Amino acid sequence: MSAHESKPLPPVDLSVPSADGIVRVTFLPENKSVEFPFGSLPYEGHGEPMSFLDVAENYDIFLDHACGGVCACTTCHLHIKAGASGISEPEDKELDRMETAADIQLNSRLGCQAIIEKPGAYVVEIPKWNRNYVQEGKPVAGAPARDYGNIAE
Ligand code: FES
Repeated sequence: MSAHESKPLPPVDLSVPSADGIVRVTFLPENKSVEFPFGSLPYEGHGEPMSFLDVAENYDIFLDHACGGVCACTTCHLHIKAGASGISEPEDKELDRMETAADIQLNSRLGCQAIIEKPGAYVVEIPKWNRNYVQEGKPVAGAPARDYGNIAE
């Protein structure tokens, strides 16, 4: 199994609060939760370190990031449902970019720019307009072209 093939996520007991020093992130609508000690996550190279995109990439949870996580698109748009007080304040470049996003709300952030700054429980939701793409899945890099057989001319 390569490092980026989907693998089962370790179970998270959502019936109890996250432990001291632990970050718990739940991604909706897929309802996938992950937990890890704060400061322990290796940087996966997409978005700001400890951003929601970085967390998603570490656990093979799909969060679109067309620009690669450099604040140049809005495909990583998230709604923060819980844990906002533990997340970095948006910088001007994120605020400027968010002005171009669809379905913007008071709890909107860019997943590649919103950084988890302390242990705790976080819940983020990928907006509706982006969910169809999630359900269809992202294209597999290097997948062979579809074979249509010989077409008579
Ligand atoms: S991935 Fe493009 S702005 Fe976040």
